Amino acid sequence: VVTNVTAPEGPSGVLHVPPRLLMGPGPANSHPRVLAAQTLPLLGHMHPPFFKIMDEIQQGLRYVFQTNSKHVLMVSGTGHAGMEACIANLLEPGETIVVGNNGIWGSRVCDLAERYQAKVVNLQKEPGQTYSKDDLSKALEEHKPAVLFLTQGESSTGTHQNLAGVGELCRKHGTLLLVDTVCSLGGVPLFSDAWEVDAIYSGSQKCLAAPPGGAPLFFGERAFEKLQSRKSKVASYYFDLNLVGDYWGWYDKRFYHHTGMTSTWYGMREALALVANEGLDNMWARHQAVADHLWAGLRELNLEPFVEKPEDRLITVNTIKIPEGVDPVALVTNAMEKYNLEISGGLGGTVGKVWRVGLMGYNAKMENVEMVLAAFRDGLKKQGRL
Ligand code: GLV
Repeated sequence: VVTNVTAPEGPSGVLHVPPRLLMGPGPANSHPRVLAAQTLPLLGHMHPPFFKIMDEIQQGLRYVFQTNSKHVLMVSGTGHAGMEACIANLLEPGETIVVGNNGIWGSRVCDLAERYQAKVVNLQKEPGQTYSKDDLSKALEEHKPAVLFLTQGESSTGTHQNLAGVGELCRKHGTLLLVDTVCSLGGVPLFSDAWEVDAIYSGSQKCLAAPPGGAPLFFGERAFEKLQSRKSKVASYYFDLNLVGDYWGWYDKRFYHHTGMTSTWYGMREALALVANEGLDNMWARHQAVADHLWAGLRELNLEPFVEKPEDRLITVNTIKIPEGVDPVALVTNAMEKYNLEISGGLGGTVGKVWRVGLMGYNAKMENVEMVLAAFRDGLKKQGRL
């Protein structure tokens, strides 16, 4: 037999990619130690040395989530996989979820929850706003939902949702609190146990300084009990946490569910070792310091935050108002062409209204802020604005 489809020219030879400093909403550049770990020889996904790596990842996750819960693991997939795993497992058909929808992640959760046949109450807010305890208390009172969803760091709008006290509120109504921390985990304070959060998902590619592909997941005691007492089977096989949890040692014996992402988990183990080495307090302080430095420089360029209230502003993904008459795309293109630097435009409700600058993980460094400020200065000068 002779092949009649010829070998392609594209995937031949050695792959090269252009250098990029990724200062948008993510992925951020990975730490070199994480990338190096991903080149180590493969182990089998059921080999004891690999289980040891999975155990170490879980220890690292407990630290970064600030929890003593046994029920943490990495979902094989991006942050969206974490989102889907939480929705698929926490809700049964016909149950109600109240969704804090002040940006794209709330919209996605509305869509996902509908697909899993939940009743969705869309608690819509304008981009740039967050939820007060009063807003949430009213919604819980009225709808008595099984789950309340909030996004800690809304990367499409640049808001930071205050979570303190929300868990307590949820408990009063028998509601589980589910939180998206994709762009905030490791960058801003989070105390899963102390704040009585029930379930959280995140992503590997932002403040944790690893490539995309892993979704840290946390289930507290009440979320785990819900999983155990479901009347209906979880509608997704791949995301069924009874089965995935089995593979991650939640129960007595490990069971093969899917092939663990060997190299990705090597990187994740290294990323979490870096978090442990630096210390979470130091990490949070570093993210705050670079954000303060960014805003001091932006204000000198007469640029302003999109989010009105200072206490609602997210420091890991910063949204900057586009001034009247400025061409936002020209500035972004200039940053890429001249500096190999990614600055991003808006997403969803913020398209055309903001630029987004990420200060996350390995990229949360003063010299990177200087580079971003230089690109803004240059881009604005080119448009006669300085
Ligand atoms: C992705 O997380 C984005 O906000 O663009």
